[in-house]
Amino acid sequence: MIGKKVQDAFNDQIQAELYSAYLYLAMAAQFEDMNLPGFAGWMRVQAKEEVAHAMKFYAHVTERGGRVTLQAIDAPPAEWASPLAAFQDAFKHEQKVTALIDGLVRTAAEAGDNAAGVFLHWFVTEQVEEEASVDEVVQRLKRVKDAPHALLMVDRELARRGGA
Ligand code: FEO
Repeated sequence: MIGKKVQDAFNDQIQAELYSAYLYLAMAAQFEDMNLPGFAGWMRVQAKEEVAHAMKFYAHVTERGGRVTLQAIDAPPAEWASPLAAFQDAFKHEQKVTALIDGLVRTAAEAGDNAAGVFLHWFVTEQVEEEASVDEVVQRLKRVKDAPHALLMVDRELARRGGA
């Protein structure tokens, strides 16, 4: 059985993961508008992954006899000044999520909840990958600067991320 403290913290994280999905979907929408289908598809895949993250927390709470309660999700920004600005925001956001996961690890440890602790290992590793994959695009976009041709090349590369 999951304790109330860990349950509440996991419910907060469901909201944070769904907000992440919302944020990346907002970025995808702007990229569609900019005729950058590769960038848009990359963000749509990212949004799907965030929903999957939320569902992992949902399943864990439910399997352990807890109660999922959903919270309001804030509206994400609607626009970014450039693809680089969007990916820089995404990177900052992933750093925030990493801090949230670290906080959950502490909450689980303080509660003596080993099942939650083991469950969270996957997220600790996932966040390393999440930060790295977003930062890789940030670094590429920094090299592109304002060259439209180079931007289209990055768009074509990002289109290779399947599942959108
Ligand atoms: Fe669910 Fe992007 O971390």
